[in-house]
Amino acid sequence: MGSPMLALENIHAGYGRFEVLHGVDLRVPPGKTVALLGANGAGKTTLLKAAAGLVPTTAGQITLDGVRVERIPPQKRARRGLMLIPEGRGIFRDLTVRENLAMFAGRRSVSEAIERAVAAFPVLDGRLGQRAGSLSGGQQQMVAVSRALIADARVILADELSVGLAPVVVDEIFEAVNVLRAEGRSLVIVEQYVDRVLDVADYVYVLHKGRVALVGEPEQCRRDAVFDQYIGAATHS
Ligand SMILES: Nc1ncnc2c1ncn2[C@@H]1O[C@H](COP(=O)(O)OP(=O)(O)OP(=O)(O)O)[C@@H](O)[C@H]1O
Ligand SMILES: [Mg+2]
Repeated sequence: MGSPMLALENIHAGYGRFEVLHGVDLRVPPGKTVALLGANGAGKTTLLKAAAGLVPTTAGQITLDGVRVERIPPQKRARRGLMLIPEGRGIFRDLTVRENLAMFAGRRSVSEAIERAVAAFPVLDGRLGQRAGSLSGGQQQMVAVSRALIADARVILADELSVGLAPVVVDEIFEAVNVLRAEGRSLVIVEQYVDRVLDVADYVYVLHKGRVALVGEPEQCRRDAVFDQYIGAATHS
């Protein structure tokens, strides 16, 4: 399987003196998709932020391509190919859609970046000059996911991409996730639509109160009593 693209080992992190993660291990092999599940408050967002460098770790190791990164700032981790798509989207609301896409074009031309985004999300074509903050929630999420498509991020951490979106938009978002997978990117996905994310995941991690309660392949996890206990039928869709 090779060395993992992203490996978190014994991660302790939280807010001030309030520890949320009590020694979490998570491995994302190259080109694989990990579903990170757990109840509200389990620590999923905190774990993604710790990986991205937005929440400091108090103990543990983070390696990206075998290089220790837990002490390097978020921008440098991003330059090494780690991208967080945060809850609340992380786009520049006061910039236009075109300007947002241009910012992540990197080595590509802006027109190529726009072509990629529009190919995935045709509705953006008519909105390139519009302020991103004035788009619908679903359209804003399309811009956020387009950033991942455009940028050469190899490890993408996606926090609740589909929250609050209409089913048809959720379908589009998952199609874009499949494009990212097909391109061989590594993904960690936090998602409330458990069945949908299990369909695309290679591995599942269930967090419970800041600890990993279950790890496995989707089919194994679906059959595990621990899975039902912590994920519950209510969150299936
Ligand atoms: N900025 C913050 N300051 C203090 N405590 C926080 C902060 N953000 C989160 N927490 C606390 O950390 C714990 C874990 O929160 P986190 O957001 O990581 O959970 P989550 O699994 O993402 O939950 P959800 O499914 O609701 O998004 C919770 O007890 C929460 O109240
Ligand atoms: Mg969260």
